Amino acid sequence: MTVFEPIFIGTEFNPANTATVYKGGCLDLLASVPDESMQLVVTSPPYNIGKEYEKRLHINEYFEQQREVIHECIRVLRPDGHLCWQVGNYVDKGSILPLDMILYPIFRDAGLKMRNRIIWHFEHGLHCRRRFSGRYETILWFTKEDNYYFDLDPVRVQQKYPGKRHFKGPRAGQYSCNPLGKNPGDVWIIPNVKSNHVEKTIHPCQFPVELIERLVLSLTRPHDSVFDPFLGVGTTILAAVKHDRKGHGSEVVSEYVKIAKERIQKLADGRLRTRPMNTPVFDPKGAGQKLTNAPWLREEVSIEPRLF
Ligand SMILES: C[S@@+](CC[C@H](N)C(=O)[O-])C[C@H]1O[C@@H](n2cnc3c(N)ncnc32)[C@H](O)[C@@H]1O
Repeated sequence: MTVFEPIFIGTEFNPANTATVYKGGCLDLLASVPDESMQLVVTSPPYNIGKEYEKRLHINEYFEQQREVIHECIRVLRPDGHLCWQVGNYVDKGSILPLDMILYPIFRDAGLKMRNRIIWHFEHGLHCRRRFSGRYETILWFTKEDNYYFDLDPVRVQQKYPGKRHFKGPRAGQYSCNPLGKNPGDVWIIPNVKSNHVEKTIHPCQFPVELIERLVLSLTRPHDSVFDPFLGVGTTILAAVKHDRKGHGSEVVSEYVKIAKERIQKLADGRLRTRPMNTPVFDPKGAGQKLTNAPWLREEVSIEPRLF
């Protein structure tokens, strides 16, 4: 977006709004959204793990609730549009149930076609004692039809060896890679929003903006509309508006709604700090941080000579 461009943040759905931040349940907002009007629906629903904003349900009840919302999201999707459902694990007495496995039949039975199951890998989170700590979640990306919009160029990433050339054949000597960069693949290494992330708010599990920017830039055109039924603190709308798209969503918690509106306004005023796309993941060793020295290893070195 052009910085300082005036934007309009509505509280009820109107296709002309730059952003709609609806305070209330997603099914209520969806009821006011016309059929086939959204190019992208992207969201991270509650995982039913007892976070402060959700009531833990029996898994069957959770499935039925999700089915109702997903069907409504499919109704509002344009024929060449996309639906991206980002989920982690449901945990029951220490046993994990990957939510994408549970929810997949809903999308399949509705006739959607899965294009990628993107692995979002991050380094930080709870440390588990009786299993390996969870360090990825997934994004299930579906289209309604085979003739879908997809533009790889704005989301290409740098090649490992951009200076590599063809060594034989008619193109010998020419650079072999695409100068715009390579396909980012389906494993995305993007830091999650923990305490010292520049985008951190009070929300316990907000999206990093760059995760959604990649989807917005590859799956939508400028001025298209993007929808997030479980909006949280408005990250999906930020990623959309930042790139001249429109963003609409609903959130039940008043405090998150307030923060979402503030963040969108800050973006429009050029005051919102976000982690830029494709910034390499921070390497504490490379940065020369002293905390990466293990004191017990230093001791071992000093003890060794005494053994001989
Ligand atoms: C996993 S969080 C999404 C966070 C979001 N991606 C962000 O970047 O802030 C799920 C959100 O859905 C909200 N929520 C739960 N039930 C809802 C409903 N029926 N309608 C709308 N929002 C709901 C919760 O309050 C929570 O903020």
